Amino acid sequence: MEALPSSAGVAVPVHVAIIMDGNGRWAKARGLPRTIGHQRGAEAVRRTVRGAAELGIGYLTLFGFSSENWKRPAAEIDDLMGLLRLYLRGEIAELDRNGVRLRVVGERERLGPEIVRLIEDAEERTRSNARLNLTVALSYGGRAEIARAARLIAAAVKAGEFEVEDIDETCFARYLLTAGIPDPDLLIRTSGEQRISNFLLWQSAYTELLFLDRLWPDFSKDDLEDAVREFSRRDRRYGASA
Ligand code: IPE
Ligand code: IPE
Ligand code: MG
Repeated sequence: MEALPSSAGVAVPVHVAIIMDGNGRWAKARGLPRTIGHQRGAEAVRRTVRGAAELGIGYLTLFGFSSENWKRPAAEIDDLMGLLRLYLRGEIAELDRNGVRLRVVGERERLGPEIVRLIEDAEERTRSNARLNLTVALSYGGRAEIARAARLIAAAVKAGEFEVEDIDETCFARYLLTAGIPDPDLLIRTSGEQRISNFLLWQSAYTELLFLDRLWPDFSKDDLEDAVREFSRRDRRYGASA
């Protein structure tokens, strides 16, 4: 596949979000344990982060572990947390070198003190990078995020910081975990499932959705380029007439 020539007028989305799904099915199809699927999924994360930076995507948000994924067997959760520790320990230097700023959104306390410390270190170390804003959603749920924002806003009103009448969409968005990050332009879900699974509920109001049959461990830079091309063909109207 040819590279995306900048002269081709392809409108690269500013913010791409991905629901990285299908690790388990990838492993099952090969008679392998799910944990191998997750390992290969972590490799796809590395490829995708590199590819996004090369394509000039400004923001990449990856759904790595949902609030609901805590329902999975303890052994699978342990494997996933082990991979997360490996990723945070092994990738930060390269992310930093490549100008990637890492942020994590979600109920991070549930990930345990060791991972929390690794996340804080990584966020601090990459804070001033601006080539690619990488946000990883971990122990994240869109409804939990919206409920949290409502709690914070209620507390601010109670403390007399502003009036109930001042609460509008802009004000609300400032209390979300993604404050300061633009809404996603394109949301990709791999694995053939066609649902949002509690990801970025508020933020994806006008996001273009793309559902791919590819299982996450097989997701390649070509797939990302194809997705960007498909995005550039979409006609976004935001409710206005054509
Ligand atoms: C995505 O792959 C990774 C996580 C949700 C942590 P799955 O583990 O959901 O894989 P499938 O959907 O069972 O194939
Ligand atoms: C969504 O995938 C969460 C992540 C990819 C991290 P799931 O596999 O948890 O979603 P469902 O259960 O199929 O909706
Ligand atoms: Mg899944």
